[in-house]
Amino acid sequence: MNIEISQKNLLDLDLDCLVSYVFEDEIDPSLESLELNKSLSDYITDLINDGEINGRFGQLNLVHTHKNAKQKRILFAGMGKKQDFNLDRARKLAANVAKFIRNKNFNVCGALAGRIELPKPIEVSDLFSAIVEGANLGLYTFDDHMRKKSDSTKSESSSFLLGGLGGLTKKQQDAADKAVKTANVVSESAKLARDLVNEPANLMTPTILAERAKLAAKDTKLDYQSLTKKQIEKLGMGAFLGVAKGSDEEPKFIILKYSGDPKNPDKELGLLGKGITFDSGGISIKPAANMSAMKGDMGGAAAVIASMYGVARLELKINITALVPATENLPGGSATKPGDLLTAMNGTTIEVENTDAEGRLVLADALAYANDRGLSPLIDVATLTGAIGVALGSVSMGLFSNDDTLANQLNESSLDTGEKMWRMPLWDEYKDQNKSTVADIKNTGGRQAGSITAAQFLHEFAGDTPWAHLDIASVFMSSKVDGIYQKGATGQPVRTLISLFTKLAAK
Ligand code: BES
Ligand code: MN
Ligand code: ZN
Repeated sequence: MNIEISQKNLLDLDLDCLVSYVFEDEIDPSLESLELNKSLSDYITDLINDGEINGRFGQLNLVHTHKNAKQKRILFAGMGKKQDFNLDRARKLAANVAKFIRNKNFNVCGALAGRIELPKPIEVSDLFSAIVEGANLGLYTFDDHMRKKSDSTKSESSSFLLGGLGGLTKKQQDAADKAVKTANVVSESAKLARDLVNEPANLMTPTILAERAKLAAKDTKLDYQSLTKKQIEKLGMGAFLGVAKGSDEEPKFIILKYSGDPKNPDKELGLLGKGITFDSGGISIKPAANMSAMKGDMGGAAAVIASMYGVARLELKINITALVPATENLPGGSATKPGDLLTAMNGTTIEVENTDAEGRLVLADALAYANDRGLSPLIDVATLTGAIGVALGSVSMGLFSNDDTLANQLNESSLDTGEKMWRMPLWDEYKDQNKSTVADIKNTGGRQAGSITAAQFLHEFAGDTPWAHLDIASVFMSSKVDGIYQKGATGQPVRTLISLFTKLAAK
């Protein structure tokens, strides 16, 4: 579906369907603002008076105009009470409207989005970006490997126009154009992350993941580099290599560099993503049930690569280097065994108590590398622990940080995008659980507070550098179709990261 701003008054256009957004508490029974109502002999007024069209959140009413108007149909979309309205609701509603239109096979549609008065501080342009993101993400499908394509793929040529009654003012028009452009890039980035995660592990090996990162860099101003096993060995990344040992696939250390602020070359943020392209658990092998979901254990890497793609396409004034340690975690003949000792790049020795706690091992070396290169602040994204889902359910990811400013900035962006996160504690007391009797640290902290001890392990390698860790194991996949989400990869937290970087770049 192509979404564009219309220069023309939508009421002058021949449309298969005109979408009209209505607030529950401001629904105007005379529908003075909708001239169409008159040509329909006040039919819509009757529907409102009967309570059929009531603007309740999510309600969709399709009304046929029976050749009394240029528009064949009007779809009323309920926005709920004005005081409850926010951009998350707007995205969700837009996703459901887009799916409705797709399922009906309407070709040319329009939305009177500029007609309503929005609650402060939401601007018309915000609503437009929410509609674009909602529709793009709501219509997402992953059918590359299916011979029978889904309806979304078939309806790619249909178009959706956004406009106001009597057109938009010049100022609204400019803001709207920019908003739509940005929203398209943001949703394409989130869709890229979804694609990478949904791909099965045999088609998303470390080598292929690196190729996909290279592809993302090709059309943008991203500098791509991928370190081979030899180079990784030379760097002394013993923790990362300890995980890779059980697999026949070569590990890759992917580096994407974006220099949008060349005047401040020493201000460079580090973005790190866990890139386990399949996590069997290794010798501490996982149970068979649901193990296939571990093809998505590179969800952090996907989010990082996709965010870099978005940042580069938006040409933000910021410097970021992204680091992705990518490998499979398999139980091969030369795999790391429970009890083995590994030495990370910074010299820290690690007792591997459980080979299934591999994410923190690969990130340990990535964090050490980031510190070595002087990147700051650091943000890592990882499908790190099942325990984060026990704590927060599938509603929210976990946020851990040694820096209040960075944590608050992430939180703020998360509120804007609706990709929920909740800050978890990093109290010193939790460090005790990671103590080893034979090495500097061990890679599991026992059953209690599993996501916190995992974060404390990473903290050891982040050191005093301002750092935030997002444990996305609870949200990287959705088990149901819900608004902008399909079954499968969610693309979280790409929109939040791009929002954060946009704000940091404006500073
Ligand atoms: N990749 C998993 C975490 C995970 C679980 C992600 C469920 C997505 C959904 C991680 O590598 C892992 O296996 N963690 C272990 C840690 C334990 C061995 C200390 C876990 O959560 O059980
Ligand atoms: Mn694991
Ligand atoms: Zn894992």
